Amino acid sequence: MDLTRPLFSISLGASDPHCEGRRLRQAGPVVPVELPGLGAVWAVTTDATARAAMTDSRLTSDIRCRGGSQGTGTLSDRDLIARPGNAGALHPHGGDYELMGRPLTAKQVEDLRPRIEAHVEQALDGLAAQPSGLVDLKEFFAYPLCLRILAERPSLPNLTAVSPLVPVSSTDGQPEAATAADADATSRLIVNAVRGLLRFPYQLELLTTGRYSWASAVKETLRWDPPVAHVLRYATEHLELEGALIRKGDPVLICLAAIGRDEAHFDAERFEITRSPNPNLGFGHGTHGCPGAPIALLIATVVLPALFTRFPRLARAPRAQGLPSMTVDTPQPCLVVVNAHLRDSLDEEIERLLRDV
Ligand code: HEM
Repeated sequence: MDLTRPLFSISLGASDPHCEGRRLRQAGPVVPVELPGLGAVWAVTTDATARAAMTDSRLTSDIRCRGGSQGTGTLSDRDLIARPGNAGALHPHGGDYELMGRPLTAKQVEDLRPRIEAHVEQALDGLAAQPSGLVDLKEFFAYPLCLRILAERPSLPNLTAVSPLVPVSSTDGQPEAATAADADATSRLIVNAVRGLLRFPYQLELLTTGRYSWASAVKETLRWDPPVAHVLRYATEHLELEGALIRKGDPVLICLAAIGRDEAHFDAERFEITRSPNPNLGFGHGTHGCPGAPIALLIATVVLPALFTRFPRLARAPRAQGLPSMTVDTPQPCLVVVNAHLRDSLDEEIERLLRDV
């Protein structure tokens, strides 16, 4: 196998990334593929190989180690950095992301709960006020909510003092790129969980009847539909991984979404919150594992029960499945009907949304 001869081409915005994931897994644990915009990459498709890659010091997230030999790519470094999960590429050397001390303690994270709850209540009020009742849950609810929480620096003075999580603010009032990426990932954790729970209602019942914790649903989401579907590394020297000769500068794409649905380990297509143990790589692994995981988990476990309590008849919009989308990692918008009694009068609105997507 050789990076100059990719086996096939993959798309990060595929309408069905899980179908693509299956194809990748079938090809092997480390396979050369073409990624439009980036060129040839090594795709890592198994849990064990991914963990090995993410703890191998010869594989770095420092984008400056990207080799020049695969110069067919058109994605700029900035584009790559802006992708969720590539925040690591910004530091310690990138200059756009400042590490400020040690990670938050469990208590510091827990202290954020009241502020998060207040934001969530406010956002739910906004959702209830949507006139038609049909909304794209990410665009109108989850993303602005997560952005508000994560950008709230004045109320989080301790964070700025001690946390590695607070990005340097921008001067033009726009959310700093890393904050936007973090909010994007956190909001996709929420909508992916909602999608799973609406598709497998018995799982939702296990939660609303208190038999399982919301944390178990979040954990299963990180396996079933991880918000960050891929992360990138670059080889700082030649190395061998599962028989593949990776050359210095080669990009290595670790396919978290494909790994989460590995049939060798899971009855993978089912969203099943009762799995135990339920390992996943949704927050990465090793030294570059996500330092924002505790905050993201807290946000998701506050938002999800509050959402289903306020909107017990939350439903997937009819015919909303299978829509193409311009977003990179979430192939379908999560259109939901918050006021289910309005469903019958929504056909026109749905037609309009279908045309606009
Ligand atoms: C559900 C939400 C989130 C998910 C799924 C997620 C996922 C990830 C993943 C997979 C990585 C590893 C990237 C790699 O290996 O190259 C990562 C790294 C990172 N995440 Fe998150 N993340 C989330 C939320 C957040 C939040 C809320 C923050 C900040 C408040 C954050 C800050 C970071 C930082 C700074 C890194 C880089 C760590 C390093 O390279 O050392 N993330 N994240």
